[in-house]
Amino acid sequence: MYYSDELIEEVRMKNDIVDVISGYVRLQKKGSSYFGLCPFHNEKSPSFSVSRQKQMYYCFGCGAGGNVFTFLMEYENLTFVEAVQMLAERAGVELPVMEYSREAKERADLKSILLEINKVAAQYFYVQLKSEQGSVGYTYLKNRGLSDDTIRGFGLGYSNKYSNDLYQYMKSKGYSEEQIRQAGLISTDEKNGVYDKFWNRVMFPIMDVNSRVIGFGGRVMGDAKPKYLNSPETPVFDKSRNLYGLNRARASKKPYFLLCEGYMDVIALHQAGFTNAVASLGTALTPGHASLIKRYVQEVYLTYDSDEAGTRAALRGIPILKAAGISAKVIRMDPYKDPDEFIQNLGAEEFEKRIADARNGFMFSLEILQREYDMDSPEGKTAFFRETARRLTGFEDELERNNYIEAVAKAYRVSPESLQKLVTKTAISDGLAKPVERPKSSVEKMVKKEDGHLTSQKVLLTWMIEDRRLFRTISQYIHPEDFTEELYKTVAELLYKQYAEGELNPAKILNHFTEEEMHREAASLFHTRIRELSTKQEREQALEETILRVKKNSIDVQMRQLDPADIAGLQRLMEEKRKLTDLKKLHISLD
Ligand code: UTP
Ligand code: MN
Repeated sequence: MYYSDELIEEVRMKNDIVDVISGYVRLQKKGSSYFGLCPFHNEKSPSFSVSRQKQMYYCFGCGAGGNVFTFLMEYENLTFVEAVQMLAERAGVELPVMEYSREAKERADLKSILLEINKVAAQYFYVQLKSEQGSVGYTYLKNRGLSDDTIRGFGLGYSNKYSNDLYQYMKSKGYSEEQIRQAGLISTDEKNGVYDKFWNRVMFPIMDVNSRVIGFGGRVMGDAKPKYLNSPETPVFDKSRNLYGLNRARASKKPYFLLCEGYMDVIALHQAGFTNAVASLGTALTPGHASLIKRYVQEVYLTYDSDEAGTRAALRGIPILKAAGISAKVIRMDPYKDPDEFIQNLGAEEFEKRIADARNGFMFSLEILQREYDMDSPEGKTAFFRETARRLTGFEDELERNNYIEAVAKAYRVSPESLQKLVTKTAISDGLAKPVERPKSSVEKMVKKEDGHLTSQKVLLTWMIEDRRLFRTISQYIHPEDFTEELYKTVAELLYKQYAEGELNPAKILNHFTEEEMHREAASLFHTRIRELSTKQEREQALEETILRVKKNSIDVQMRQLDPADIAGLQRLMEEKRKLTDLKKLHISLD
């Protein structure tokens, strides 16, 4: 870690969590906490809570939680160090300049190194494009109508025609073979040794929402296959949570995004002034993409290719967007294949018209559905309306559903009343009255899978953080060494120390974990889900059982690790075991 603990804590204290999160989520005060719609999963009623007193946030729906640094790491997809830097700037705290010595590089966490490697590689590719050997790439891009401004703005580049050109360059910059491999830029085989993943291609750096290069797409300049090669997923490159062009589109003032299929489509649209265009990264649209989009806009115009595959992709995308609360419209591109070709041929003004003429996503999917039925026969028509009615029941909001019923009735020339009746009938026979299934949180799933001893240890930690009195009771029996998982032990040590010093500050404990995975896991320890216990007696019993269980497991683990020659150690553990039986007789009271 580069910054001192004091400095990190200063940054944390100067950034009130309620103020910071209010910049991203609309919060409302309820009792001692603030509530809002969780930005980390889709929900209609607020279960995301922020506590000013504890300086922590927690979502009762999906289990996301942590301090102000965690929030930025999760929301802005930052590393711990970047979150500290961003908040330091916000609060006007001056941080010492970081040096990138070899030692610093080795200390830095993997993600920071991978981001740096991607950035250095992108700069290298850009320089190559502008050099003589890159003129093939430059000419190719120019021939596709891109201006110098656009090329610079998107950081386009060229990978040279030698098999290990980038590898040699990166080595000369001090990165190890292993690091370059983890960034996805090289491969190895027995015959050729180490070779570059990308060579003789025009390069499209893929950036995350904060304009950090996280991977690449590389296009051949002729007809070779594959047309595009993409970086593999790495610790910094998650294809289902990033969108090409989002770093620029997020700054667009338009209340909707244009969602297209290709890198070139995004670039062509931006160059033509449509700076709200984004694309998925050579993969289908995922719920992860949808919730990412939802942070910026409520509406998406699909500009998928006009071919069969593009239509199918649009049809798959519409319900995914709808589930995230985003309404979808579909833009017609014919007679051209994709937005890039459309703009090349008809220009921005015509595209603007297509935006204005975009069809509602639901109506579009009905048009496609219609092709499957013989609309000239009464049976075919009836079957079509049955399926349409079934789909209409998907609109939970009554007003919205009625608006759609009206629109469908008008478009297909049936009476709105009879369609309404059919929808109601379908809803009843499909059992609309059945309770809505709550999404299972990932935390809940994790807890179920993990071993019971760890769960008990987590429960104790959560209790001790929640309630000073519980700490007093628990700490009589349980010591930090009794936590068998290294991370839990560290959290317990810090917590016991805070109590000893008379300062309970859970948010500060999290500062200690600078590596993202650890940080997240530590945050989860503070919010273990505990079954609601209503009576005092139930609570006391649960406390007693949990303490016993953790203590017994701790002794068992120590027994197993004991050197058989260590007679004194054995005696000590036997004594502890005996005390455990005493503890069983003892009644823990919460008075
Ligand atoms: P398209 O084949 O529609 O290409 O692929 P395009 O965007 O029109 O590209 P140009 O205009 O020929 O240069 C759409 C997207 O699918 C992914 C890429 O992300 C591409 O932008 N793709 C396509 C691949 O990942 N690999 C491929 O071989 C082809
Ligand atoms: Mn194209």
